Amino acid sequence: MHTSSTLKAAQTAAALRDEGHSVIDLTVGEPDFDTPQFIKEYAWEGLQKGLTKYTPSSGMKTFTHAVADFYKGQFGASFGPSEAVASSGGKQALFNACCTLLNPGDDVLIPKPYWVTFPEIVTFCAANSVFIDTEATDFVLTADQVKAAITDKTKLLIINSPSNPSGRVIPPSEMRKIIEACVERGVYVLTDECYLFFAYPPGEVFTSASLPAEVREFVCVAGSFSKTFAMTGWRIGYTIANESWSKAMIKLQSHSATHPTSFVQYACAKAMENASESMAAVQSMLAEYERRRDWLIPALNTINGFKCGMPEGAFYAFVDVRSLLGDRFKTSADVADLMLNEAHTVVTDGTGFGAPGFIRISYATSMENLQTAIERLSKIFGTRSATAA
Ligand SMILES: Cc1ncc(COP(=O)(O)O)c(C=O)c1O
Repeated sequence: MHTSSTLKAAQTAAALRDEGHSVIDLTVGEPDFDTPQFIKEYAWEGLQKGLTKYTPSSGMKTFTHAVADFYKGQFGASFGPSEAVASSGGKQALFNACCTLLNPGDDVLIPKPYWVTFPEIVTFCAANSVFIDTEATDFVLTADQVKAAITDKTKLLIINSPSNPSGRVIPPSEMRKIIEACVERGVYVLTDECYLFFAYPPGEVFTSASLPAEVREFVCVAGSFSKTFAMTGWRIGYTIANESWSKAMIKLQSHSATHPTSFVQYACAKAMENASESMAAVQSMLAEYERRRDWLIPALNTINGFKCGMPEGAFYAFVDVRSLLGDRFKTSADVADLMLNEAHTVVTDGTGFGAPGFIRISYATSMENLQTAIERLSKIFGTRSATAA
């Protein structure tokens, strides 16, 4: 396995900061909002109630029931609490799903660009990552691409929509077709829905948890509270999968993390039960991300050599800088290095996401930071009049 590609940039940024420079960090993969106060209070309530001991490895009953009820209320999904398993973040949900399904030598389809952790988990399971190039369809995976990629060795497809790093969203109708194509060939699907609630209007939010039971037999949803309720440090997520897959994941988890923190489960269960307040909190975060996106993307497109489409979800701008490559810059990593060293602005090179020639800019940071970053980048690269990407 490899360490995260953002680490090197983060270390250089820290060194520049130590030297007294004002560094703008646009690598962050976490909301800049605090966890809503009422969720913090639920955690305190849980502690007061004495929820400080082990819980079942599947998660507390109140938690798994709350997941099932929340999905029913929000999406009309109908699955039972025994199909939901609490995990210590979305990452552990993905690990639980892959480690219980994959055998050494299995092929796993991963659309490019991908979140850095997907191929690492596949490697950990001694399986093979088989990448599907989606540039021809503007980074939106299609059922035809999946059909063309499936072979007898394919065991699993991992999908992440809204996507980190591209911000693209697969339309619900295409998602259904993709999953149906997999089910027809007996291929499992793991949908990483950690940005589920961050699709910008008028886009439609789609969870594969709402698919009919016979299709869900092949599907596992990996969910997370990290982005949804700005709870990255609390380490809590969940899977939604058929009962036998869930049982295997519970067994595995009983020998690893055991379960996520008891009073954190309680806080999340209460937040899901209080869906109106929770969804209002999500909506206000989404509105702020949208305001930043609407300002940032046109601004990026005024910078010489930058080309960026409008993200439909998550909080990342994925910028094509290939037109800058040549004598001055050999790779997008060189572009990112110049941004760091001359504009003290840290971004993530796309190579780690399987997209060399691109850089990822997170707008989970203040408008003020974004404006300063654009001013600095305009100075070093120069500007042109705004163009549609
Ligand atoms: C696509 C994607 N999936 C999963 C995660 C994991 O989130 P967590 O483990 O904090 O729930 C992240 C975090 O950045 C992510 O971007």
